[in-house]
Amino acid sequence: MRILRTIPEVRAAIREARVGGATIGLVPTMGAFHDGHLSLMRAARAASDLVVVSLFVNPTQFGANEDLSAYPRDEARDAALAEAAGVDILFAPAPSEIYPEGFATNIHVAGLTDVLDGASRGAHHFDGVATVVTKLFGIVRPDTAYFGQKDAQQVLVVRRVVRDLDLDVRIVACPIVREADGLAMSSRNVYLDPAARVQATALNRALDAGAAVFEAG
Ligand code: PAF
Repeated sequence: MRILRTIPEVRAAIREARVGGATIGLVPTMGAFHDGHLSLMRAARAASDLVVVSLFVNPTQFGANEDLSAYPRDEARDAALAEAAGVDILFAPAPSEIYPEGFATNIHVAGLTDVLDGASRGAHHFDGVATVVTKLFGIVRPDTAYFGQKDAQQVLVVRRVVRDLDLDVRIVACPIVREADGLAMSSRNVYLDPAARVQATALNRALDAGAAVFEAG
């Protein structure tokens, strides 16, 4: 596995792979890998000739009072896990590579981002996601990109960007991977103290209960 830091390095590697006719799979991530991320990498590995994983804690999708500085970071561990999952390229740029001096573009998906996470976190969150994902698509030019269904609204936002901007990439949403007690795996689960960790499992139990009621008519 190669660890690349710059856009020209990634472009050169992609150009070379494309000459040989390779299909490219991209898994955009912010690192702190868990089995959910690894399931995306495995899905990409199974369907693509070249698998690129981006590892970038995207500052523009964090609010002023959110956890940008505390967000878990361990590149050496992530690189070892990505390599074991069969990833070919880990793209781990510095913030200045993605947002150089004078960067001024923002992608805003109207409507979809006003509700749910967009309402509680503010418009900047999905603007940051849409902008960085669009940049990653422009840099890597993947045939297929893989996202976790856990972030369901994010998947909808990305699909809308792809549709509205006619981006030539297929979006695959992979199933949620859960802990043994049903909690969806997330890099942020490390923030939960033991009591909150137990409370958090209520989400999945409530969904299961809702599904059971639905299935019973
Ligand atoms: O889901 C994430 O980890 C991030 O929102 C993403 C898609 C990598 C964009 O920074």
